[in-house]
Formats: sequence, C-alpha cells, structure tokens
Amino acid sequence: MRIRDATPADATAACDVLRRSISELCAADHHNDPAILGRWLANKTPEIVAGWTMEPESSLLIAMEDETILAVGAVRNSGEITLNYVAPAARFRGVSSALLAALEARALDRGSTRCTLVSTETAHRFYLSRGYVDDGAPQRKFGTTSSYPMFRQIARR
Ligand SMILES: CC(C)(COP(=O)(O)OP(=O)(O)OC[C@H]1O[C@@H](n2cnc3c(N)ncnc32)[C@H](O)[C@@H]1OP(=O)(O)O)[C@@H](O)C(=O)NCCC(=O)NCCS
Repeated sequence: MRIRDATPADATAACDVLRRSISELCAADHHNDPAILGRWLANKTPEIVAGWTMEPESSLLIAMEDETILAVGAVRNSGEITLNYVAPAARFRGVSSALLAALEARALDRGSTRCTLVSTETAHRFYLSRGYVDDGAPQRKFGTTSSYPMFRQIARR
C-alpha cells in the first residue's frame, strides 16, 4: 500500500470509495435513513471531489494498492481532518491507521500542531485508541445520533 495526493483523474474512483464507506460501514450513524444519507452523500460527487484535489488550503490523500483506491482522507492546513474513509473490502487491515498518520504528517508539514475532527459513531473507538480525545458535546452532523468533536496534539513520529 502507498499513500499519495489525489489528482482530478482519481475523483470518480475516490468518490465511489467515499460513498460505499459511508453507506455500507456507517450504519450505526445513519441507520439507513434516506434523509441522513442524502445529506451526508450530497457533496460526494466526482465533480466536487475533483475540486477538492485542487484546493490549496487542504490535501486530499488516497491509499492505493496497485491501481485500487483503498481509502480516501483529507486534511486542511489548519489541521482539521475532514475525511477518512476506507473501502469496505479493505476494512481492518490497518489502512485507516496508515492514512490517519499520513494526514497528521501533512498537517504537521503545513505548520499545524493539533489535529481536529468530528468522528462518526462508527470510528469513535478507532480515534480514541489513536490518542484523540473528545472535545465538547456530541453533535448531530447530517442528522446522525452522535458525532464526536475530537482533537490530538501532533508531533513528528
Ligand atoms: C472503524 C474504522 C475507521 C477503522 O479503520 P480500518 O482501516 O478498518 O482499521 P484499522 O486496521 O486501521 O484500525 C483498526 C481499529 O479499528 C477499530 N475497530 C476494530 N474493530 C472494530 C469494529 N468492529 N467496529 C468499529 N471499530 C473497530 C479498533 O479501534 C481498531 O484498532 P485497535 O484494535 O488498535 O483499537 C473503519 O473500519 C470504518 O468503519 N470506517 C468507516 C468510515 C468512518 O467512519 N470514518 C471516520 C470518519 S470521521
């Protein structure tokens, strides 16, 4: 597996990973409610994802195995992690852990010393075991039951 910056040419496949990860892995968050899923997936289109690859204020990273995208993540230069989604077929193989480390390293390169994110219910345990702590009351992002604001101080590993 290798992790690299996404390009506009990756947008369609990256978008497919994002949509399947949300739809198939995050049922504890959206409960298969079409209204919640609709809000969550609304900006996950190839055109919008292609735009994210060209934003100077953020990085869109993809974890690849051969020509297959295993996971998609994004981090703003400010340290805010805005995406971290693994393909269902690549779950529990260390992919999100590796991508999270790459996102943190990118934030550090851009001058941040703290990463923030809003975790799904699905990934809350994952972030807790990677050093993130809850930061305030749970939110109802996209209408989900609980989304957790979290942060971690970061330093060169
Ligand atoms: C939970 C998730 C993030 C883990 O990522 P992954 O690439 O599958 O797994 P990794 O091998 O990198 O990490 C394994 C960790 O997942 C967690 N985990 C293991 N089994 C789990 C399960 N059945 N359900 C939820 N989390 C589980 C544990 O924290 C485990 O690490 P630990 O054993 O050291 O505590 C991922 O499987 C997932 O469901 N992603 C859905 C998208 C999402 O919610 N993204 C976060 C957006 S904020």
